[in-house]
Amino acid sequence: MNCKPSFAIIGAGKVGSAIGVLLKERGYAPVGVYSRSKTSARRLADQLHSKLYKNAVDAAKAADLVFITTTDREIGTTAAIIARKGGCKPGQIVIHTSGALASDVMEPVREQGAWAVSVHPLQSFASIESAKENLPGSSFALEGDEQALPLAEKMVKDLQGRYFIIKAADKPLYHAAAVIASNYLVSLMHLSASIYRQLGLDEEQARDALFPLIQGTLNNIAKVGPAQALTGPVARGDASTVKGHISALSRMNWRTQEVYRSLGLYTVGLALENGSITTNEGAALSNIFLEVENCEQKGNYCRLSAHETGSQTNSHVNRLRLSDGYVGRCFWYRRHPGWGFPR
Ligand SMILES: NC(=O)c1ccc[n+]([C@@H]2O[C@H](COP(=O)([O-])OP(=O)(O)OC[C@H]3O[C@@H](n4cnc5c(N)ncnc54)[C@H](OP(=O)(O)O)[C@@H]3O)[C@@H](O)[C@H]2O)c1
Repeated sequence: MNCKPSFAIIGAGKVGSAIGVLLKERGYAPVGVYSRSKTSARRLADQLHSKLYKNAVDAAKAADLVFITTTDREIGTTAAIIARKGGCKPGQIVIHTSGALASDVMEPVREQGAWAVSVHPLQSFASIESAKENLPGSSFALEGDEQALPLAEKMVKDLQGRYFIIKAADKPLYHAAAVIASNYLVSLMHLSASIYRQLGLDEEQARDALFPLIQGTLNNIAKVGPAQALTGPVARGDASTVKGHISALSRMNWRTQEVYRSLGLYTVGLALENGSITTNEGAALSNIFLEVENCEQKGNYCRLSAHETGSQTNSHVNRLRLSDGYVGRCFWYRRHPGWGFPR
């Protein structure tokens, strides 16, 4: 196969469009576009100066590299249609860009002699323009047929990206981590800004106030890694400040309190990992985040006592695994009345 092969895009959304435009700029030859709506397909076909196809099969037939950049749930069906209707040939490479799915979802194309790979850009694509801007310098997770990986690696390098190879079975976990780092960061910023709005700041003021903090934190993480970048009351073992936060947050909804407590508990582990607090300080902070009383060791678990798990608490949370070593004791674990999941 040519070292800069021809390609077709099936699914002219954010990722398909950004990858298509960048690959063309890097010397790959676009042969055509197909998308569910003619408007999307036309927009990308015009940008690529390539043909607009009326169906996925003909678009695939014309290309060495076929990108199925539809939404995740359409990838399998699209691959099956292409394979069934003669869109695949031996030596052709069919690529999807999903983070959660493995290349196995395109199994039918393998049965027709094509190679299947997943090439997931570890980047968030909010719009086509920002995607084109953010893609160079991003990492890509590659997985799939060995024969297709060298070409996938070269393509990533041509897109000025970096790559690593993962196993098909690891994709859901790999993707969960990406969701935590990206989507949940967005949710956290939304949560912080909404608290500031309750204090009287408008949307823009809240964003302007928080953004330099986030940027500074990201810079620190980039320089020294997450554990060493940790600052704040948990890193200092400052139990009274944490108690003050919990008391102030009690006027917020239960989700906000839950997020603060869960992440606080996780942060205790981080502070112990970087050695900024002692085991006793970690245990004291954990007690505050968990609202626990009394102590009783039961292996690696603490168990809710019958009287503590009365109707006011969540009966499904009856066992709590403690992170190895970071709380040397176990506790009766009681949840705040009214604080928890709806029953
Ligand atoms: N967005 C991200 O941040 C991101 C990051 C990394 C990877 N990914 C992955 O990249 C893939 C594409 O995501 P995206 O964000 O680009 O989605 P998107 O913007 O929603 O684009 C999907 C495109 O596929 C088209 N489409 C849907 N079903 C189709 C079908 N059956 N046949 C042909 N075209 C169809 C859509 O139709 P219309 O023609 O109606 O527009 C749309 O243009 C997904 O696998 C996603 O998991 C996304």
